[in-house]
Amino acid sequence: MPETVYWAVIDEAVVGRISLRHRLEGNLLKMGGHIGYEVRPSFRRRGVATAMLRELLKTEKAKEIGRLLLTCAPDNIASNKTILANGGVFTEKVFVEMVNDYRNHYWIELTKLGSP
Ligand SMILES: CC(C)(COP(=O)(O)OP(=O)(O)OC[C@H]1O[C@@H](n2cnc3c(N)ncnc32)[C@H](O)[C@@H]1OP(=O)(O)O)[C@@H](O)C(=O)NCCC(=O)NCCS
Repeated sequence: MPETVYWAVIDEAVVGRISLRHRLEGNLLKMGGHIGYEVRPSFRRRGVATAMLRELLKTEKAKEIGRLLLTCAPDNIASNKTILANGGVFTEKVFVEMVNDYRNHYWIELTKLGSP
């Protein structure tokens, strides 16, 4: 699936990565969603993921998609909080056969976040 990848850099060191998938089909509708991210372990719990997602949602491509699906494991506290802090609305907990586990589904509607 085509995607745009952004890197978070602090003092010339890569500390995180976030990617925006341009469209969804197949398993991405159950697990993966539009946005994936990770933060370098030594830079976690400093707000990097929350900031990366906030900045991604300001991009033209994200606004063009308009309604974005984010999924994460129910026990991934940091990721659930990152999504909620950026306006994610929980819709359902979906069982994903591929990983034999559940994923929380959230949607972020950019038009409802008051973006210009
Ligand atoms: C999930 C992940 C990207 C979060 O990155 P991060 O930069 O540490 O996140 P933030 O610092 O923005 O923290 C977001 C919130 O989660 C909390 N948090 C972060 N790590 C936590 C942990 N291990 N346990 C509990 N809470 C945690 C933060 O305190 C913050 O909460 P707050 O808004 O109440 O202050 C990072 O842990 C990671 O890369 N994990 C592995 C990959 C992954 O799970 N990606 C997401 C897949 S859906």
